Amino acid sequence: MRVGVFDSGVGGLTVVKSLLEHKLFKEIIYYGDTARVPYGVKDKNTIIRYAVEALEFFKNFEIDIFVIACNTVSAYALDRLVQEADIPVVGVINPGVIALKNSFIKKDINILVIGTKATIRSGSYETQLKSDGYTNIISIQTGLFVPIVEEGIFDGEVLDSTMRYYFKDINNIDAIILGCTHFPLIEKKISEYFGGAKCIHSGDAIVEYLQKNYNCDKNFDKTSVQFFASDNPDGLKSVAKEWLGDLLHE
Ligand code: DGL
Repeated sequence: MRVGVFDSGVGGLTVVKSLLEHKLFKEIIYYGDTARVPYGVKDKNTIIRYAVEALEFFKNFEIDIFVIACNTVSAYALDRLVQEADIPVVGVINPGVIALKNSFIKKDINILVIGTKATIRSGSYETQLKSDGYTNIISIQTGLFVPIVEEGIFDGEVLDSTMRYYFKDINNIDAIILGCTHFPLIEKKISEYFGGAKCIHSGDAIVEYLQKNYNCDKNFDKTSVQFFASDNPDGLKSVAKEWLGDLLHE
């Protein structure tokens, strides 16, 4: 099985990390649109256009399945990509909602959804959660976390004060949907801020989803990973080395 993994930039590497940890694929082709990141501040039509162009890029590689490792793209372009592709296309939002449902049966828990401006504006998580019967949902745009993570800041004063800025009026949270693939890198700090609340992580959620729905349970010993980017591919490769470390084979 050869999977194509797409994100607006480096954030989707957190999804690659989960795929590698669970040894789901023999080959991973990653493409980050680093020339045009961030997508989270762009409008719907632009996000769809960029996503269709990414699908074109993957046509060179004969992938078996296309994973959208970006919440923003999943929120706006999943339907269009499903229409255009002749292979399965999987986004991260539905798997995230399923992962939350698997962890929390009670419908009156307090859920916090955080993501980019575009993801939150789409209401995708909130709509699905409400249709599954969850009633207490707060959704907020926390776009500043994206450049903070890209700067390699995973703790300390800048992150703490940004969390205070976004979360100052929010209390008693039971579950947090990390609705952006950059956020797993600061998962621990966000969870701690809310007294150890459970975080739902797009990468782990999609692994469960792929195992259940696409028979991805082969347990490959070795996965080859190729990285591509629309700008500064060496920069993306060095972030990948830092974040994925020993999970990458030569
Ligand atoms: N990684 C993207 C996501 O999951 C956010 C970064 C961006 O704004 O492009 O939504």
